[in-house]
Amino acid sequence: LASGTALTLGGCGIFDSREPINTSGRVDFRNPLRIPPLAEGTVRDGTRVFDLVTQTGRTRIVDAGVADTWGVNGALLGPTLRARRGERVAVNLRNDLPETTTLHWHGMHLPAVADGGPHQAVEPGRTWSPSWTIAQPAATLWYHPHPHGQTERHVYRGLGGLFILDDDEESALALPRDYGIDDIPVIVQDKTFDDAGQLVETDRVDNGMLGDTILVNGTAAPVFQAAATHTRLRLLNASTARSYAFGVSDGRSLELIATDGGLLPAPVTIERILLTPGERAEVILQLEAGESVTLRSYPQEMGLSDSRARSTGAADELDILLVRAVADLRTSPALPRVLANAPDLHTHRVAATRSFELRSDRINGESMDMARIDDVITVDTTEIWEVRNAHGQPHNFHVHDTQFQVVSIGGESPPPELSGWKDTIYLPPDVDIRIALRFTDYTDPAVPYMYHCHLLWHEDKGMMGQFVVVEEGQSPTSNGNHHGPG
Ligand code: C2O
Ligand code: CU
Repeated sequence: LASGTALTLGGCGIFDSREPINTSGRVDFRNPLRIPPLAEGTVRDGTRVFDLVTQTGRTRIVDAGVADTWGVNGALLGPTLRARRGERVAVNLRNDLPETTTLHWHGMHLPAVADGGPHQAVEPGRTWSPSWTIAQPAATLWYHPHPHGQTERHVYRGLGGLFILDDDEESALALPRDYGIDDIPVIVQDKTFDDAGQLVETDRVDNGMLGDTILVNGTAAPVFQAAATHTRLRLLNASTARSYAFGVSDGRSLELIATDGGLLPAPVTIERILLTPGERAEVILQLEAGESVTLRSYPQEMGLSDSRARSTGAADELDILLVRAVADLRTSPALPRVLANAPDLHTHRVAATRSFELRSDRINGESMDMARIDDVITVDTTEIWEVRNAHGQPHNFHVHDTQFQVVSIGGESPPPELSGWKDTIYLPPDVDIRIALRFTDYTDPAVPYMYHCHLLWHEDKGMMGQFVVVEEGQSPTSNGNHHGPG
């Protein structure tokens, strides 16, 4: 949110240089942070069932007026869903929107028919009822719409929420987990509003829309009252295009405890954590009684030219959230020194290596085609994917169904913040990134999963491919009957 001139980028988008809230990125914090309600569902016959409705609504987000928004079980965003490893979960999603949409469980290991990607479209008035078993470690996942070619707009209008997974290992650790008290969703999004307070959804540059107002959990200028010396912030970049490098205004460090797919081996002390669209991080913010600090996004080196850096927001210094500690702060236990096992995908025994080159809205020269399977993967083998952004534009890379291990970035071992489970990773231009993946369950060979750039405008324009997970030698075109090789 530098001055208006910073935003006059090339490309086909329309962009007027409307004055942002203020040109310094400083916010007059004044609204209590909204905490999305926790939905633990109802247990019926041993299955945890979530009843969800995607719907239209009206929300006063900024003082200028009321916006038409979309939400899940409400007018804007949706409840925080929560389930435990080993549980069977089911969702009944009714679509009361005037358009076809989907809900995708980002980061979840599950059958492709339950994935909520572009092949699981839910027409207006219809109900979709996927179910699966939670078979992965405790993590901060999220859900969002994924209709083919329309994802950016549906997310921007307000559909989405967290999906927290618990497990016994995480529950045994002395970590803050009192939801809404010392364990806080921080869903960060940027939006642009017109003079009547309505969402503007046309201001688009090469990489999508950069909003002039930062929201946390749908709250503009948000203030959170911390009640404990340790607050666990579950950071989610749910913006369509903007990246954030989170840090604290007085320069104090944060303890990073988890990334996309769950806990790190041990807390890592950091000053900044870069999250590109779709990525999550859990950090512990430590405060003393009466203190106030601002969570802020700082300019970040992303390997981009200056104009491209501006088109991701990486050049901006922005206020995100004011955290004010109450006077009688509860004392949290000391942070555990060991959290979880490091990912180990047996990269010494690799069944296949694939390369993915991202350039000009395409992956390996192909634009997304719902009818084309791009990759056929043999179940329960380790693969190495070499991913490269061969383009001066910012891109990231997200893979459905699994959490991956970063093997190397430009030939070097990953830094600690990229050493845990990930499902989305930033791709600096011209850097080879090697990730190891393992797809542990066979699924219907006629129903693919996706990999794609999570800058949603790029995804919508076709920077996405499809894969299936089958038995060795099986053809992806066969129907859903499960038959072995030969
Ligand atoms: Cu978060 Cu394919 O998406
Ligand atoms: Cu991209």
